Amino acid sequence: MRIGLIGSGNMARALAVGWARPVTCSAAQLEEAEALASLVGGVAAATNSDVAAASDVVVLCHKPKQLDEVATEIANGCSVVISILAGVTVAQLRAAYPDSRVYRIMPNLAVEIGQATIGIVDDDAGDAAVFADVIALLEELGDVFAIGEEHFAVLTGISGVGPAYLALVAQTQVDAAVAEGMNVAIAKQLVGSTLKGSSALLVARSNDSEQICREVATPGGVTEKGLAALAGPLRDGFTAAMNAVLGRSK
Ligand SMILES: NC(=O)c1ccc[n+]([C@@H]2O[C@H](COP(=O)([O-])OP(=O)(O)OC[C@H]3O[C@@H](n4cnc5c(N)ncnc54)[C@H](OP(=O)(O)O)[C@@H]3O)[C@@H](O)[C@H]2O)c1
Repeated sequence: MRIGLIGSGNMARALAVGWARPVTCSAAQLEEAEALASLVGGVAAATNSDVAAASDVVVLCHKPKQLDEVATEIANGCSVVISILAGVTVAQLRAAYPDSRVYRIMPNLAVEIGQATIGIVDDDAGDAAVFADVIALLEELGDVFAIGEEHFAVLTGISGVGPAYLALVAQTQVDAAVAEGMNVAIAKQLVGSTLKGSSALLVARSNDSEQICREVATPGGVTEKGLAALAGPLRDGFTAAMNAVLGRSK
């Protein structure tokens, strides 16, 4: 399947690296597309229409506000369109691409290492075989969850933004360690290793977060004290963050 990317920014680069195959790509500034094409192989196209003409599936990796502008250029040249545009609904995609099979997905930056969490709206666009092909293509990049579009904003608030939240948690913990005199490089290694092992443990334990908390927090021990200090602010913070995302995405 020949992949075309409209846009060559952060997510386009991560997707292309994850797929590890040549792509045809475009950008507002041709040099950006050239940089991506030289990174993963493939061709930097001078126009979006050239991308569509050279591709079996076109992935929209530009900004959401550019939906109509880009569709005007390529809509009559795409049979299959995958959109990663945050907040852009299937109905809006269908209006912009009336003659294409359109699929709305929400990946995250971990596509780059094949460990992404990817949501796809559970709408096969009237073609089960194409839908299966799209899901197979996405499964090269990580775990794929087909869900109702009414839950897409919440999914965005968990997995789409998740790598940034975890990076912020890491940064905050490093800062706290450095404030206590630890060398920054060692603190980063400790925090990264802890997040890696703790994530793997959570998955191995069937996501039973409560049991893990119980096992680490010996009664009267240091974890209990740390959790008591952290739980309230963390819950408030993540609730506020979800509300902020929903406010923008809905
Ligand atoms: N970042 C994430 O983690 C993430 C996660 C899920 C979904 N998304 C979605 O992914 C999309 C891209 O986000 P991003 O973070 O990758 O943004 P980005 O780094 O700013 O990339 C946007 C790309 O679109 C290009 N572009 C602008 N106008 C264009 C046009 N008319 N035709 C073709 N390309 C054009 C830009 O080119 P120039 O740089 O040359 O202007 C740039 O390469 C957004 O819709 C966002 O909602 C992002």
